[in-house]
Amino acid sequence: MRLTVIGTGYLGATHAICMAVMGHEVLGVDVDTSKIEKLASGQVPFFEPGLPELLTKALDSGRLRFTTSFAEAGDFGDVHFICVGTPQQADSEAADLTYVDAAVTVLAPYLRRRALVVGKSTVPVGTAARLAGMLRELAPAGNGAELAWNPEFLREGFAVDDTMRPDRLVFGVTSAWAEERLRDAFEPVLAQDVPVKVTDLQTAELVKVAANSFLATKISYINAMAEICEATGADVHDLAEALAYDDRIGGRFLRPGLGFGGGCLPKDIRAFAYRAEELGVGQAVGFLREIDGINRRRRARTVDLVVEICGGDVAGKRVAALGAAFKPNSDDIRDAPALDVAERLRAAGATVVVYDPAALESARRAHPDLEYSTSALDAARGADVVVLLTEWNEFREIAPSAMAAVVRHRKIVDGRHALDPAGWRSAGWEYRALGRPTVAPLEKEHRR
Ligand code: UDX
Repeated sequence: MRLTVIGTGYLGATHAICMAVMGHEVLGVDVDTSKIEKLASGQVPFFEPGLPELLTKALDSGRLRFTTSFAEAGDFGDVHFICVGTPQQADSEAADLTYVDAAVTVLAPYLRRRALVVGKSTVPVGTAARLAGMLRELAPAGNGAELAWNPEFLREGFAVDDTMRPDRLVFGVTSAWAEERLRDAFEPVLAQDVPVKVTDLQTAELVKVAANSFLATKISYINAMAEICEATGADVHDLAEALAYDDRIGGRFLRPGLGFGGGCLPKDIRAFAYRAEELGVGQAVGFLREIDGINRRRRARTVDLVVEICGGDVAGKRVAALGAAFKPNSDDIRDAPALDVAERLRAAGATVVVYDPAALESARRAHPDLEYSTSALDAARGADVVVLLTEWNEFREIAPSAMAAVVRHRKIVDGRHALDPAGWRSAGWEYRALGRPTVAPLEKEHRR
């Protein structure tokens, strides 16, 4: 099958590469010439484990090419996947649909024969129906240019696996022909018994935002419990573990800490709440504003904890910030809780030295006022307090004694519940984490 993938960012590049590896002829399309040149020369423009190797494989097979020409795309493809971004609007909580609209408007005039255009971007419900109308109007093929929706659930850091072996496929279609085309395009995936759910367009759009809202709710739920734990001296880490034994609840996305960030969860729940209000059913998902509020409070509370451990003021203090990416195994700093906390501490007068295994360059560009180091120990040199903000494995492996040797004061705030409190405390550290008691329950017992 001949596929085009429009938009070669995180989602599009991964999709294009994986589809070519699975045997299709693929043309990746983007308006960003430098991105296209990079990909065509075998370089993945972002950090994603396993993807560079697959890009080489796909290019070597001769099945993957890149272009900036929509005319070429229209001529080449039987199925066109739209994978452009839908960021939050600068002055509102709504999604910015400029790129999705532009992709359809620019491609449509080149669709001269029957073709399927498949949206993968996360959009407000109702967008697909609107785009379908635009497509029919603008394409020379008229009704032969059909729209479908196929939401994407890939997680950064696991993008290859999530694309090659997703837990489900959702096909939002308006004809049997469109379903057939999608079944053909995903044949290698479906051959692995991946379940497929065929729906109408609006249900397919909703699956994505409903899934991300649920995940955000689960994280904020446990973080709300952390607030209760903080007021009562209970331990949210133990609470979460005890809840997770109930299969109906489960332990995934129930990790308390600094909360969620990234290019998806925060903007998706805001855009969903906004869209629901537009539809007159805002009350139904009004709780998403609370989920967002709980999540934002985690960042403020982490700053409070650092201030507290420093004796009430961080002005003039040296803070080692471990982590910048919004989560480990990613170099993505979009809405990164780690950098938000680092900036707030800097604004409060601290000197903040950041280290991250993958996101240093992008962090440096976006936050030039922070200081940067090339290792965790280097960042911690002379620090009054160490703050763990992204749970990279590398940080879990730090020996408390090795870090103790370089810091000024042995104080650590574990924003991600990534470290073993007993190990750090026994090495002489004052260890603090959101929602966990100042002294562990068993230690309290022993002290009696
Ligand atoms: C998310 C969805 O998981 C994915 O299905 C969708 O396609 C895009 O959005 P991603 O943004 O890559 O993927 O990150 P994810 O792994 O979901 O983590 C989101 C945030 O939640 C991170 O900041 C992470 O640190 C945080 N998180 C996750 C928690 O704070 N606690 C948890 O228990 C899990």
